[in-house]
Amino acid sequence: MRTARAGIKGEYMGTENDRFNDWVVYQIYPRSFCDSNGDGIGDLNGIRQKIPHLLDLGVNAVWISPCYKSPNYDNGYDIADYRDIMDEFGTLDDWKRLAAELHANGIRLVMDLVVNHTSSEHRWFREARQSRDNPYHDYYIWADKPRNDWHSLFGGSAWEYNPATNEYYLHSFAVQQPDLNWENPAVRRECCDIVDFWTDLGVDGFRCDALDFIAKDFDRGRMLNGPYLHEYIHELFGREKVRHLFTVGECQSDEQTICDICGKTRDELKSVFQFEHIHLGRSDKYTPAPYTGDEIRNVLVKWQDFTAARDLNYILFTDNHDQPYYISRLGNDRARRCPGASRSATAYAAMFYLLRGIPFLYEGQEFGSANSRYDDIAAFNDVESVNYYHANEGKKPHDLLIREINYGSRDNTRRPMAWTDDPAHHFGFTTGEPWLPMPSRAAEINLARDLASEKSVYRFYREVLRLRASSDAVKDGVFRDLTRTPGSFVYSRTLGDEEIIVAVAFERPVSGILPADLTAAYRPVLMNLPTETPFSDAFSPFEVRVYRKNAAQ
Ligand code: NOJ
Ligand code: CA
Repeated sequence: MRTARAGIKGEYMGTENDRFNDWVVYQIYPRSFCDSNGDGIGDLNGIRQKIPHLLDLGVNAVWISPCYKSPNYDNGYDIADYRDIMDEFGTLDDWKRLAAELHANGIRLVMDLVVNHTSSEHRWFREARQSRDNPYHDYYIWADKPRNDWHSLFGGSAWEYNPATNEYYLHSFAVQQPDLNWENPAVRRECCDIVDFWTDLGVDGFRCDALDFIAKDFDRGRMLNGPYLHEYIHELFGREKVRHLFTVGECQSDEQTICDICGKTRDELKSVFQFEHIHLGRSDKYTPAPYTGDEIRNVLVKWQDFTAARDLNYILFTDNHDQPYYISRLGNDRARRCPGASRSATAYAAMFYLLRGIPFLYEGQEFGSANSRYDDIAAFNDVESVNYYHANEGKKPHDLLIREINYGSRDNTRRPMAWTDDPAHHFGFTTGEPWLPMPSRAAEINLARDLASEKSVYRFYREVLRLRASSDAVKDGVFRDLTRTPGSFVYSRTLGDEEIIVAVAFERPVSGILPADLTAAYRPVLMNLPTETPFSDAFSPFEVRVYRKNAAQ
């Protein structure tokens, strides 16, 4: 009987490069980024066209959400062929051209790796479901009757009946996403081969979807974090050929699991996303709850200290394709929005991205994109939202249901990018009809309009990233929490003689927050509210100021 991996001594110890401390990653949801051929769907050539945008912003890596062949029940997270590109997005040659052009511009490429499940249209599953003695049958997880009461994350039972074999298969996500059976060595080999295929094509890393789900724990009734999780991850990424790659796992992991997955001697992953700050301010996905900025700060301080003390990488992020915009949920995006700019967007830009860790930005975040409001379910596409709507239709008042969906739907961040200020042409996303309605606030929040504003969010992001790139204290320095007043977050990053101080107020005006020894030796280098008195200790709501001492340049 195999046991869970203990700490492994004498193996790969990591290298300097394992800190990835100069990486700034930008996540692209390809369907919604830029449509190059007028079919209303973003594509790989569209991404290629926007490389100048990425360079101008100051990112040096992209993570592309799945662009493989897929029937799109879950927008590419249901993969039918791991070695080919989705028709709407282009061809493998387009991908190669994109990869080459990104690399020629110094931008690394991180692919999404979805190996907890395949599409039900993948050849393996089409075979597997035909008969119990099909060679692929054991690639998936079967039971004569539902083995437990597990629920799919997208609603309903996690077990689906398959008439041909008179059995049920497990799907942690949509019915069209059957879970792979990682206990089968052949499945693990297939997954290693997929990683190798893209590694041979030159990718720089992988974002690993729902990685903790690959190990089930039937005995303890847990769908994830089963006993062999670490063995499986080690088998996938501990191999000589791929251990240099950047890897980030999507894992809902506690402190111990994070140490076990990311510890330098473990030879598993380089990092995981940690979601504690993302889950604040809501009682469930669809329901807001009271929160304070102090809670956000406390969570960030906790994880800064925890990861620094253990020399673990930490991912700095506020937005992705699964979460409504952070500034809409936790940044009071309407009240604090100045014409063409968002105060909380810039405050959070400096507050998050000058911390210790690897910045991840999500498309649209760089110009303060915010949630949409649509009253008709026809304006939504996300399988999770649509399932939720149908499961509750007639049970909850329509107004409440649609309010919940507007608040919690993943479509908020999946709506197409608003590049220009031209509603007649779908804000520059496509010359055709967009696959999903544009953000409802696109006329107010789009890149062109933002750039024309004195208080541009985009320019502020660019300054934050420039500061990061120019500062060893930001990339490598020690983090110290200097907060002394509730309603604020003040911290320093120090390396040798260089020091950066970041001071931000949350929802209310605060004063008396700056460190007492903030003297003329410190230079204000970044402010989101122009002031003649940058050392004044009175801060407006969501005002942020950054000071720098003894910069080399
Ligand atoms: C997590 C992904 O981020 C999400 O978009 C997807 O629906 C599920 N995993 C299933 O792959
Ligand atoms: Ca297209």
